Amino acid sequence: MSHTCRIELDGKSHEFPVVKGTENELAIDISTLRDRTGYITLDDGYGNTGSCKSAITYIDGDQGILRYRGIPIEQLAENSSFVETAQLVIWGKLPSPADRDRFSALLTQNQMMHESLRNHFHGFPPNAHPMAILSAMLNAMSCYEPEMMEIDDDQTLERAAARIISKVRTVAAASYKMSVGQPLIYPRTDYKYCENFLHMMFSIPYKDYEPTPEVARALNLFLILHADHEQNCSTSTVRMVASSQANVFASCAAGVCALWGPLHGGANVAVIEMLEFIRQSGMSVADYVSRVKAKDSKLRLMGFGHRVYKNFDPRSKILKMAADQMLAKMNINDPLLEIAGQLEQVALSDPYFIERKLYPNVDFYSGTILRAMGIPVSMFTVMFAMGRLPGWIANWKEIHDDPKSRIYRPRQVYVGNTIQGFVPKHLR
Ligand code: SDX
Repeated sequence: MSHTCRIELDGKSHEFPVVKGTENELAIDISTLRDRTGYITLDDGYGNTGSCKSAITYIDGDQGILRYRGIPIEQLAENSSFVETAQLVIWGKLPSPADRDRFSALLTQNQMMHESLRNHFHGFPPNAHPMAILSAMLNAMSCYEPEMMEIDDDQTLERAAARIISKVRTVAAASYKMSVGQPLIYPRTDYKYCENFLHMMFSIPYKDYEPTPEVARALNLFLILHADHEQNCSTSTVRMVASSQANVFASCAAGVCALWGPLHGGANVAVIEMLEFIRQSGMSVADYVSRVKAKDSKLRLMGFGHRVYKNFDPRSKILKMAADQMLAKMNINDPLLEIAGQLEQVALSDPYFIERKLYPNVDFYSGTILRAMGIPVSMFTVMFAMGRLPGWIANWKEIHDDPKSRIYRPRQVYVGNTIQGFVPKHLR
């Protein structure tokens, strides 16, 4: 491997250092390119551009590898909980029993919303999109935490992380309750993170919802698998906002907005809508796939494809297995899961998808698990956001802790009008 890269420009030769990551990823450091040559690089969608060095998550898209702080996702899915995984992702190591107890206590202390915050919900229409509510409430939350607008020590960051991870769960459940016209349910101190969320979602004043171990386990698994995913669209957005030294609440609120799109976190809703469309239209899976392949249809196989995974998405494999087990155990026959399985089989044997290395991603099966838990489709992307909070907070922290951090300010190639004069109104 060469330690430098040589670029010939306008008859001159320029050498640039090569950076090698701990997993042997190689990058050309072009941070002096413009100063030395006057040129910039152009990379639509940043498919070939590293925005940072990060120590949080490692993905090998060809091998289908995903590790949080070096620990394979399969081992975390098997042995960990979402709260423990959140601590691993944010602070870089699995928590000691004392760390775990302290953070759990902080989550419990911070699980209620300020009573004035609850009033905000009456300002949203009943059909308000829960991602709109979540992004608004994250910034509204910060108004009650002035001491967290500038975080200078680990204890304050830990309290801020606990506030966000705990209260987002309460806000998410409250947005669902508002949408179905039911009273907001207060959290309980005797429930763990996932059980409490299910309680706040599905209990009603005169009848408590009793979360089963299977459903709580499935929710833990779902959240673990969504906890981080290196520099995806929403995490890069969080870093972009964090780079201006904005507070962690504002950065996460920006992440919620980026995640909302159907090409990103909104895909888990789009997958269910696609499966429902196939089921209700009576169209065969093969016919639907043919329509996807017909370019003019603008249709995409939602839940398929990934910028990084050009083999299988390890999360999709785990979710598919968990969905099969959960539905069997709950004796649920979800026709959408059946259609999803057929779609996967048809697509994985079709040259169109094989040539483009399109495989099921995390969103393809996540909806079937959420449906089995009774989570409404409208809440699916909010569930993704709940899971991704540790990754967003960890990336915010990585920027915040870096003394050499600079504000993100990409360049552009201008292709607009060249200089022209102002035209007075009477001559237009
Ligand atoms: C997430 O980045 C992350 O890590 C994201 C995420 C995370 O954890 O944060 O993993 C979560 O966002 C998963 C992705 C969820 N989105 C979807 O499932 C939406 C459907 N997928 C696609 O829109 C697409 O695959 C993307 C957005 C995921 C990736 O887009 P790229 O890398 O920009 O790929 P592309 O649009 O350049 O497509 C390359 C080719 C094109 O065909 P050609 O022009 O070469 O003929 O593949 C085709 C595309 O038309 N293609 C698809 C397709 N995805 C790509 N064709 C049909 N169905 C699809 N789903």
